[in-house]
Amino acid sequence: MKTALITGGAARIGAQIVKTLHHNQFNIIIHCNHSKDKAQLLCTELNAIRAKSVEIISGNLSNIDELDSVVDSIKSLDLLVNNASIFYPKSVNSSETKDWDDVLNINLRAPFFLSKGLSKTLSNNDGSIINIIDIHSDRPLKNHAIYNISKAGLRMLTQTLAKELAPKIRVNGVSPGLILWPQDSAKISENEKNLMLQRIALHRQGSPEDIADTVLFLANSNYITGQIINIDGGRTLNQ
Ligand SMILES: NC(=O)c1ccc[n+]([C@@H]2O[C@H](COP(=O)([O-])OP(=O)(O)OC[C@H]3O[C@@H](n4cnc5c(N)ncnc54)[C@H](OP(=O)(O)O)[C@@H]3O)[C@@H](O)[C@H]2O)c1
Repeated sequence: MKTALITGGAARIGAQIVKTLHHNQFNIIIHCNHSKDKAQLLCTELNAIRAKSVEIISGNLSNIDELDSVVDSIKSLDLLVNNASIFYPKSVNSSETKDWDDVLNINLRAPFFLSKGLSKTLSNNDGSIINIIDIHSDRPLKNHAIYNISKAGLRMLTQTLAKELAPKIRVNGVSPGLILWPQDSAKISENEKNLMLQRIALHRQGSPEDIADTVLFLANSNYITGQIINIDGGRTLNQ
């Protein structure tokens, strides 16, 4: 039985990745930061299906000591999914150094040091890393400068790690388009949402299952490394 760690695995897309991998015979380590109650509910639900198949670790991955504790607590791992992220609008002119640190630390520094810290066990197990990126990693989203930069870095990190950690560890990425509206989506009007949907070739959002199914595909694809798959309903055709 293989073991997967999913960062930010308690809610939204991360929780679906947890469920899909668990239904496909992975044991799971759910990482969470604030969403401890949601993580516990998911853990209980999945352990009722297969006893002792899921555990929880928590920690603020922007804090390097807490990140190191997460790494130290993991004895054996086959798959690391770097999913945890923050996303909020900020124009270049309104961005502060705190925004830079907050966004870069979780979206880019954490995947780097988790990958580094867990590379020994992943290597021992011929494991793999999957980074959840964004289609805006190479086509910028207006008013999200630091987020765009963080995801562009994660794209390069994916390719760099694929080269440097080969031949023992495969490293790939999944770039979602519009899957779930942001948590504070009340600020986006229905009109704006419709305009966004019209720019997608398939004229609809994707689902967390679409992302999780691609993670599973890459986890099981033993001859794929250094690749990034857009799951965007054709949004990039119109960018
Ligand atoms: N939603 C979309 O349509 C979309 C589009 C493009 C790309 N993506 C990417 O897909 C992934 C999942 O998207 P999502 O919308 O489901 O993500 P999300 O809800 O915005 O965030 C996922 C999790 O990240 C964790 N997190 C944030 N800051 C953290 C910190 N300092 N330390 C540890 N964990 C932290 C949170 O865990 P806790 O709740 O436990 O604090 C949160 O639940 C992200 O990488 C995102 O960039 C999503």
